[in-house]
Amino acid sequence: MNKYPVSQGPSGWFEPLYAKAAGNSAQIPWALMQVTPYLQQWLQTPTNGQTTTNKERSAVVIGCGLGDDAEALAQAGFSVTAFDISPTAIKWARERFPKSIVNYEVADLFRLPSHWYRAFDLVFEFRTIQALPLTVRKQTIEQIASLVAVQGTLLVATYLRPENETDPDGPPWPLTVSELTYFETQGLTIVNQQMFTKRNSRFNQRIQIEYCFK
Ligand SMILES: C[S@@+](CC[C@H](N)C(=O)[O-])C[C@H]1O[C@@H](n2cnc3c(N)ncnc32)[C@H](O)[C@@H]1O
Repeated sequence: MNKYPVSQGPSGWFEPLYAKAAGNSAQIPWALMQVTPYLQQWLQTPTNGQTTTNKERSAVVIGCGLGDDAEALAQAGFSVTAFDISPTAIKWARERFPKSIVNYEVADLFRLPSHWYRAFDLVFEFRTIQALPLTVRKQTIEQIASLVAVQGTLLVATYLRPENETDPDGPPWPLTVSELTYFETQGLTIVNQQMFTKRNSRFNQRIQIEYCFK
């Protein structure tokens, strides 16, 4: 991945990267072009993926990129909003899924529309926190937590970094376990968590956590 150009602010380098790719997904380092396996697995758990239950449930995808996770949630019956700071990414997602019922929006996580506050039954966050530097980590977590409705669920999947790595050479800037505990200070309680080890990867420790907000 490119080095983070500090002068453009924490999120300033994403739009130029998507624009430069000019429709070639191979130029987007994180683009899987398929649903995130962690989300797919979560949706396949009977209590989470029942479409009849999900029909009346809203979901939001943070930093949705090219839209695969948003589409999977819509197929599972959620009423989905998916946002990204990059207008090119949002245009690209809409073009990839022309019949989509997902509400794709250009929005900045740090300037969220006020009507999104506590508005979503499910909030899905994959690889956006770690794509933003440590200087905005607490703010990023606060903003994501603010989207979760009362009785809602937050699903976070991220790379982990050791606690003693105080100045990671990002991007990405994986989270430490203690950074993740900041979600709990925002009123979220851990319902479930799974650790994954991936060999031959720069960051071999990954975690997926399901929180609920009461
Ligand atoms: C590493 S990518 C991950 C994309 C997608 N979630 C995935 O896992 O494939 C991070 C995404 O967050 C978006 N992003 C970065 N800063 C943002 C912000 N302040 N508000 C909304 N989206 C942002 C980027 O444009 C990018 O699409």
